[in-house]
Amino acid sequence: MAKLSPSILTADFTRLGETLALFARHPVVGWVHFDVMDGAFVPNISFGAPVVRSAAASGTKLPFDVHLMVADPGRYVADYVTPNTEYIVVHQEACTHLDRVLAQIRDLGVKCGVALNPATPLDTLDYVLDKVDQVLVMSVNPGFGGQSFIPSALDKIRALAESRRAHGLEFAIAVDGGVKESNIRDVASAGADIIIAGSAVLNNADPDAALSRFAALLGDGA
Ligand code: DX5
Ligand code: ZN
Repeated sequence: MAKLSPSILTADFTRLGETLALFARHPVVGWVHFDVMDGAFVPNISFGAPVVRSAAASGTKLPFDVHLMVADPGRYVADYVTPNTEYIVVHQEACTHLDRVLAQIRDLGVKCGVALNPATPLDTLDYVLDKVDQVLVMSVNPGFGGQSFIPSALDKIRALAESRRAHGLEFAIAVDGGVKESNIRDVASAGADIIIAGSAVLNNADPDAALSRFAALLGDGA
C-alpha cells in the first residue's frame, strides 16, 4: 500500500520537533520529505543540511527522503547522510554524470533516487533504472509548494510502473507536487508507492485531521 511522505517545506521550523511527532503518530506516514532548494537549479531557496541534521537529532524514528533540487548535487550528497536518511534523490536534469552521482549515494550507504521534471522523458533513465531505489515523478515544476498537479504525471507513473514490471525491477515510484485529498487515490492507483504532500498537510488548518483523511483515502484507516 502507498504511504505518505509529508514535506516539511512549509513547516514552522521553530516547532519542527512537534511536526515530526505528529507525523510519527500516523502510520500512513512512511517518510519525512525534505525539499532542498538552491536558488540555481530551481528559482527558490529553502534550507540545507543543518535542518535535516537537526531533524535527525530530534530523535524521530521516521526515515528521511531527501529531495535535492540543487545544481551539481554530487558536491553535497554526503552532507545529507544522517541515521534517518533512507533516500537521497537527485534530479536527472541537474547531473552531468548521473550514473556517477547515483554510485556516490550508494557508496554512502544510502538508497539513491532520481527525480524527473514534468517535461523530462522516462527514457532518459533507461541505462540507470536497474541501479536506482526510487524514481520520483515530479507532478509540478519544482521550486515552490502549493502548485497545481500536472495531469500528465499520471501517465508517466503508469508507464514507469509498467517498465518496472517488464524489467523485473523493484525501485519505488514516488510522486511529488500538487497532491491533495481530491487526487491522491488517482495517484495511488496509477502506481505510486511514495506520495509526497506538502501544503495539503501542513497548510491545512488541522494537519492531524488531514493526515487521518489521507490514511482513509489510501485505505490505511489510521
Ligand atoms: C516542489 C517540491 C514539493 C512540494 C510539495 O518543488 O519538491 O515537495 O513542495 O508541495 P505541495 O504538496 O504543496 O505541492
Ligand atoms: Zn520534493
